[in-house]
This record gives sequence, C-alpha cells and structure tokens, in this order.
Amino acid sequence: MPYHLFHGILIHSRGPSELVILESALIVINPDGKITNLIEHAPSNDIPDIISSLNIPLSAPRIEYYLTRTQFLIPGFIDTHNHAPQWAQRGLGQSLHILDWLERVTFPNEARFADPAHARRVYSSCVEGFLRQGVTTASYYGSLHAEATNILADICLAKGQRALVGKCNMNRNAPDYYRDSSVEASLKEAESCIAHVRKIDPEGKLLKYVITPRFAISCEPALLEGLGALAAANPDLPIQTHFNEAEQEMVFTKELFPQFKGSEADLYEHYGLLNDRSILAHCCHMSEYETQRIKDLECGVAHCPISNMTVGGGFMAAPIREFLQRGVTKIGLGTDSGGGFSSSILDAMRQALVASNAKEVMSKGKDKGLDIPELFYLATLGGARVCGLDDRIGNFEVGKEFDALIIDASAPGGIMTVLQDDDSTRTMFDKFIMTGDDRNIKEVYVRGQSVKVQ
Ligand code: GUN
Ligand code: FE
Repeated sequence: MPYHLFHGILIHSRGPSELVILESALIVINPDGKITNLIEHAPSNDIPDIISSLNIPLSAPRIEYYLTRTQFLIPGFIDTHNHAPQWAQRGLGQSLHILDWLERVTFPNEARFADPAHARRVYSSCVEGFLRQGVTTASYYGSLHAEATNILADICLAKGQRALVGKCNMNRNAPDYYRDSSVEASLKEAESCIAHVRKIDPEGKLLKYVITPRFAISCEPALLEGLGALAAANPDLPIQTHFNEAEQEMVFTKELFPQFKGSEADLYEHYGLLNDRSILAHCCHMSEYETQRIKDLECGVAHCPISNMTVGGGFMAAPIREFLQRGVTKIGLGTDSGGGFSSSILDAMRQALVASNAKEVMSKGKDKGLDIPELFYLATLGGARVCGLDDRIGNFEVGKEFDALIIDASAPGGIMTVLQDDDSTRTMFDKFIMTGDDRNIKEVYVRGQSVKVQ
C-alpha cells in the first residue's frame, strides 16, 4: 500500500464533550495503515515544505488527497451491538415485547443460518450494507451455528471490516429447532470459532472472537460457568451480552436466578462474565448499585436507542446522562440491527438525542439531553473504548490505525440540509450529523484501505 496524505478539514473526538475541529490539517498514513503524522495546522501554501520535512522515503509511492471546502474527514463509526443474522428481519415484529419478539420473529429467522449458503448470502449483504453506511467496526452476534459464524468472520476479513464476531451461546428457553444441544456442544462450538478466527487473522489485524452468551435466560448455569471459564482462559477476548434490557426479560431472569435478587450485575459477575472486557447491551433499567458496579468493573455500555423504543416493550430510554454524570463514560452506540428500524449509526445518534431529551423531561430537567459532540463521541471514540480498541482506533491520534470516512456535504443526489455560503465548519458538521446519509459518505477506510462498496 502507498503512503496516503489527506489535507483539509478533519473532525474527531478526544472525550465525551471534546469535539476537535481542524480546519486545515494534514494527516499521513503509512503503508501499514497507521497514522504517522497529524499536522493540525497546515496552510495550503506550506504543504510542499511540510511534506518534504516529514520522513516519508523519497522512493515510496504516495497518494495525496486534497479535500474540497465541503468535504471533511471523520473517524469511522463503531457499532457496538449488532446481530448479523437479523439483517434479514429488519423492520419486522416492531412493538412486540422482547420474549415474544424472540420467539415469533427472531428465532425462526436465525434458525435459517444452519444453511451455509443462506449465511453467505445474508452476511455478504450485511457487511457491505454496514460498510456503505460508514460502520468500520462492528461487534457482531452471529446465530448459534459455528459454521455460519465462521463464514461471517471470513466475510468481514475479505471485505475489510474490523469486527468482533461471536457465536451465540444459548441452550434453553428457545425452541427445540434453535438451541445448542448441550452445554458441552455449545462450549465446543465457541472454541472451534475462536480457533477459526485466530487461524484466519493470526495477528488480529481486523478480527477478534467475542464470547457471546445471548443472555442469562437462554443459558443454563453450567453454560454460563463454562463461558466464564472460557473468558478466564482467554483474557484477550471481549465478552458481550444483553443486560437489563426490558421488564419482561428482567422479571424472567429474576425468576430463573432468584439468588441474585434481581441484580444482573451480580449474576454476570458471579459467572466471571462482568469485567473490563464486557460489552453490555441496552442497560435501560439500572439500580444505583448496578451503575456503580459497572463503573467499578469498567464495563462498556452499548446504547441501542432505536431498538429500545421499537421492540422490547414500552419506552426504554437508557440513562445515558446519568451514566456520564456518574463517571461511566465507556459508552458506545449499537444499531442492534434487527431490533430496530435502522442500521445506521447516524440514525442511532439522532435517536440517542431524542431518548435523552425524553429523559430530560422525565427527570424534570435534571438529566440534560445529549449534545452533538457527545453523540459523536458515542459513535466513535466511546465505541472504540467499549470494544477495547481505543488504543488502535476511535480518533486520529498519531500511532492509531486509520479507520475513517470522507464526508461530502454537498454530494449530488443527497437530502442533507443544503449548505449556505457563510456556514461555519461546525454548522456543516451538524447538518451532516442530523440530516446526512450514506450518500454523503464518499469513502470508507479501514486500516488505511478503501473498503466502501458503491
Ligand atoms: N435479548 C436476547 N436476544 C436478543 C436479541 O436478539 N435482541 C435484543 N434486542 N434483545 C435480546
Ligand atoms: Fe440485541
């Protein structure tokens, strides 16, 4: 790969409310896809001098990319909670309560991934669809099938998407035709997928396996124990599950595990599944104790504002402002894919805003709504922290890998709010975040490689 140099507007996040806008930056990516230089202020006239002062070998091929005044670079979006098989069921069963939705819509759909040809077809479309929308990293739940999950990992690698991929472990409270046949079989299949991911991407350049108990309801205690042991034996692997998502789920969990008195934090901690590698989806209904527990254990929160309001039962607005105020800042966004009506992280940002405004009203003004810098943090750096990848991606710090989007705010054929001559860069950015779509995502890079499928 040649060196890549980009000059123009660059926008990234350094923290929950630290939006950085560089009007005339120069960023250099080396042949390994790593950011070697970020010159924050590089006036156009000085570019030749600046470039010659960098230590790029004279003989090395390089591509220079000069952005126009209506284009800008942002980090790739990170989807911290995504069910890949549900790509094929999006929009169905909206408004059903969670356990009914699983039984009537989700399990019959996911069961079809026993067929590798079906898995290949749907997963190709899924990975391409997310890349097209600027999702450079996704944390995927597969179906329960090891073969289909390996196919998903193969496809992410082939198409260049960074991903955490996990086979769903689930051996009870699901129909006979869609559950792991035993604890042993469930664990063995997870181990075979771990081996597959390590084989196809030995250095972990793009892929990691993620230990994936679907949720406590679908795992016998012995399976949770086995997965906890797997997590202990593989300290490099993240863990993902659904956590305090909906009332119906929480009531049944308490019934199945009365010893934890309704604390899912205690439940997952007991089985060795709650630590700084945990990605907890939803976290809608949290006791003070549980919020403190996930803070102390440094767990990540995958906020899924769209599915929280379309399936599950009722209006489930996770307390994101309260988390931030209490120092829980390891929070990202999830599309949840099939649970909601959209697979766009831009839409997830917008719905996170709506949910936070509702929370402001519900808390009588105490928990203020989120602003755009905070939403952008959740979609990028926050998501990287949740996935345990913030040393490699999430923003444009020197030394990180270049996962980025070129946004074209005046792309032909789009529906984004029109630009005015006197718009500031911040105004252009806000217009994109609130009204842009994939037509404004001109290019998508993962590790410096262009991966957008047009
Ligand atoms: N809880 C267990 N499985 C699922 C799922 O597939 N989606 C959602 N939203 N919640 C779940
Ligand atoms: Fe989910």
